[in-house]
Amino acid sequence: MRGVLLAGGTGSRLHPLTTSTNKHLLPIGGRPMIEWAVEALVRANVTEMIIVTGPEHMDAFRELLDDGSRLAVEHLEFAVQERPGGIAEALGLTESFADGVPIVLMLADNLLERSITDMIEAFERDPSGARLLLCEMDDEHHLRHLGVPVLDESGQIVSIIEKPEDPPSHFAVTGVYCYDPSVYDVVKTLQPSGRGELEITDVNNHYLSRGGVAFDVLQGFWGDAGESLEAYAQVDEFVTLKGANNPA
Ligand code: G1P
Repeated sequence: MRGVLLAGGTGSRLHPLTTSTNKHLLPIGGRPMIEWAVEALVRANVTEMIIVTGPEHMDAFRELLDDGSRLAVEHLEFAVQERPGGIAEALGLTESFADGVPIVLMLADNLLERSITDMIEAFERDPSGARLLLCEMDDEHHLRHLGVPVLDESGQIVSIIEKPEDPPSHFAVTGVYCYDPSVYDVVKTLQPSGRGELEITDVNNHYLSRGGVAFDVLQGFWGDAGESLEAYAQVDEFVTLKGANNPA
């Protein structure tokens, strides 16, 4: 499998920390945030990856990561997303990098206590369709800012609602997704959402309309460090104490 790390966006929810830099370059647990995402993939034996970010701070990413060898990356590419057009738009820019191979897509501001190795290995055993990583969550207020799955009686995902007013379950869709190569055809069918972006939730709902989508429920802490200044501070504190991407 190959890895796609998304590190763009305006970071407006973290102003003023991100007024002059990209949020994925901010420190978490004493390291630039992007390094934890790179490490998450490397620990899962995904050592070929592409980082998508905006034009403003591309040079800073290149300077920090160079060819990736310091972090045991075997092949590192970069792609520029000219304007923040959504997660699925950024993914669409990586089609030639993926070159027909299944991928793991990760939002680089997502920090996980445990390694994603089990999820990656499960998708490698059956690399068709899509596989999602869910997090059990009771906080309804938080769920209203995320993708939330609708589950049927047998616990399978029926659909996903993006930022629901009334969350249909107690699970959040985290920013880690495995896809077969047909994901790039799916992206080409998307229309911009109300917020003017190509939504990853629309990609996932497309897969769901074609059949079942597999998922794992994560163990341990999950944090979206880009969500708010409070979330950033909370994730920093957790990772400083416990690290991230730890073996299960
Ligand atoms: C995005 C996705 C959402 C997902 C979240 C995880 O939200 O659209 O479904 O739950 O990432 O971090 P956004 O950060 O674009 O608001």
